[in-house]
This record gives sequence, C-alpha cells and structure tokens, in this order.
Amino acid sequence: MTSTQTSPYVLCEDLFKIYKIADLEVVALRGLDLSVMPGEVVAIVGASGSGKSTLLNILAGYDAPSAGGVSVGGNDLLRMNMGDIEEYRRDVVGFVWQQTSRNMFPYLSAVENVALPMMLTEMPGRERKERAEHLLDLVGLGHRLGHTPERLSGGEQQRVAIAVALANHPPLLLADEPTGELDNATAAEILDLFGVVNQEFDTTILIVTHDPDIAHKVGRVVMIRDGKMSTEIRRRVTFQRVSGSANTDQPLEEFILVDASGRVQIPREYLEDLRIRDRARVEVENDAVTLRPEEL
Ligand SMILES: Nc1ncnc2c1ncn2[C@@H]1O[C@H](COP(=O)(O)OP(=O)(O)O)[C@@H](O)[C@H]1O
Ligand SMILES: [Mg+2]
Repeated sequence: MTSTQTSPYVLCEDLFKIYKIADLEVVALRGLDLSVMPGEVVAIVGASGSGKSTLLNILAGYDAPSAGGVSVGGNDLLRMNMGDIEEYRRDVVGFVWQQTSRNMFPYLSAVENVALPMMLTEMPGRERKERAEHLLDLVGLGHRLGHTPERLSGGEQQRVAIAVALANHPPLLLADEPTGELDNATAAEILDLFGVVNQEFDTTILIVTHDPDIAHKVGRVVMIRDGKMSTEIRRRVTFQRVSGSANTDQPLEEFILVDASGRVQIPREYLEDLRIRDRARVEVENDAVTLRPEEL
C-alpha cells in the first residue's frame, strides 16, 4: 500500500477546547489540525501552556473537545457513548505520563503493574502473567519483574510505564513528556525504546517532548503554538521512526502548516525580525508568496 491509499490513523480537524473556570474562558486548542498515518511516530513540541496535554487527553478519551472533529482508527471520538469510551481507553490507546508515579501503583511489583490493565479483559490469569513478563522483557526489565517502583530507577520506572501502556496491545501509544524527569542519557534510552515498540508492534506513537534534538531523532516533528499546529519539520531522505541518538546526516525540511481555511501561523521570531505587526504586504511572484512589512 502506498501512503496515498492509506487513511490517517489519527485525524483532528479544526479542534477547539475551551475550559471554563467560573466566568473565565481559557482557549486551550483553537482550530487544531493533525493527521498521523498508521505506524507513524510523531513528536509534538511547544511551549508550556500551548495545549499539548489537552490534545493528548482528548486523543486518550479522557476529555472531550468543545468543537471540531477527532477520530482514531476510524472511531469518531465525539460519537462514542460511555461504554464505547471505556472500551476505547482499554483497547485502543496506551498512555505514558511524565510523572512516573502516575503510571504505576507503588505497592505492586513491575509484573503486577503490567498485568493489571489486562484484568479488564477476558484474558486468563496465567496468560496475563506470561504477557506481562514478555512485555517487561521487551522493555529491558526481564530481571526486575518482582521489583516495586521504589526499588527501580527513574528510567526503569518509565520502562515499566511503557510496558503498562502496552498491556492490552493498543495500536496507539500517547506519551506526555515521558522523558521530562530523566537525565539526557536515560532519556535517549527511552526514546530508543519507543523505536523498538514501533518496530515490534507497528504502534502509532505520539510523543510530547522538550528534547531540543528531537527533529534529528524522529521522522516528523510538529510544533504547536497557542493551541494550533504552526510548523512541521520532516526528514528529507528516508522516513526514520525514532531513535535516541541524533542523526544529523539527513537534511531536515521545515514547513509552515496551512489549515483548511488557508490560515498560516508565521513564527513570531520571523515577524519580529521583519517588524511585521498586524498587517503585511503580500505578493505572489515566481511561484512564491512574499510577505513584507507595511512600511516598505
Ligand atoms: N483542566 C483545566 N482547566 C482550566 N484550564 C486548563 C485546564 N487544563 C489546561 N488548561 C489551560 O489550557 C492551556 C493549555 O494547557 P496544556 O494543554 O496543559 O498545555 P501544555 O501541556 O502544552 O503545557 C493552558 O492555558 C492551561 O492553563
Ligand atoms: Mg503538558
């Protein structure tokens, strides 16, 4: 199958999320578009408060958007009832939180933590244990099966967290700053592990990250600004999924994203450099659109 025949696994169209606190409205997402192909790994970067967690929570079925469309694997998230959502959270998505403590129960061993989400399914007990052990082996913790979280390092805890997220074979893995609390070397190992998961299970993966080198480590990075996707960086040559070490040999291409209404978001630095404020002169010439400051 070529990419033109495959439909996106994750599709967000003109997504809005407005939080209301008393009389105050906070617009966390304002017309966000995102399309992710099956088996693709996409990194999402953006300043604090730009809407990254809001987007992931919506995709995970923890929260509903205020307007717009969102579908995952053909499931229209806005048309699901409570039962559908429960099933969706159990079978379709795995979630890794930044705070390792949020991913695990402190009084359960690694293997018990991984087996726990399987108890919501029909899987027999013996099979649950075997699968949990297999997943812990895959994440490199075959020798820590009986350890409780407090006896594991931060990196090991995130490995367990990834195994927990994979417990029920989800086709989609969402990770909200999974390396945020780790040192650089450990963070690189965890990124490598996402690469292993992607190769092994063909899992579609969205990772929110602050890693400044991320563009050299995944095939595609999208930048979110004020609740909307603004720019995207892709590798020019081959589609590389994800690895902990930066590959700087392959050139990167940066794009500004254009939404369905033709809106683009010009990075603030460009506007400041060119002293463009609330209006600009636009010209189309030689296959190019040029924006110039008003005063010129
Ligand atoms: N539950 C909530 N209630 C009210 N405002 C919220 C809530 N969650 C997030 N926000 C606001 O929405 C915006 C986006 O937040 P968030 O998605 O957490 O950003 P990020 O993960 O990129 O830091 C912020 O202004 C934040 O304060
Ligand atoms: Mg966040």
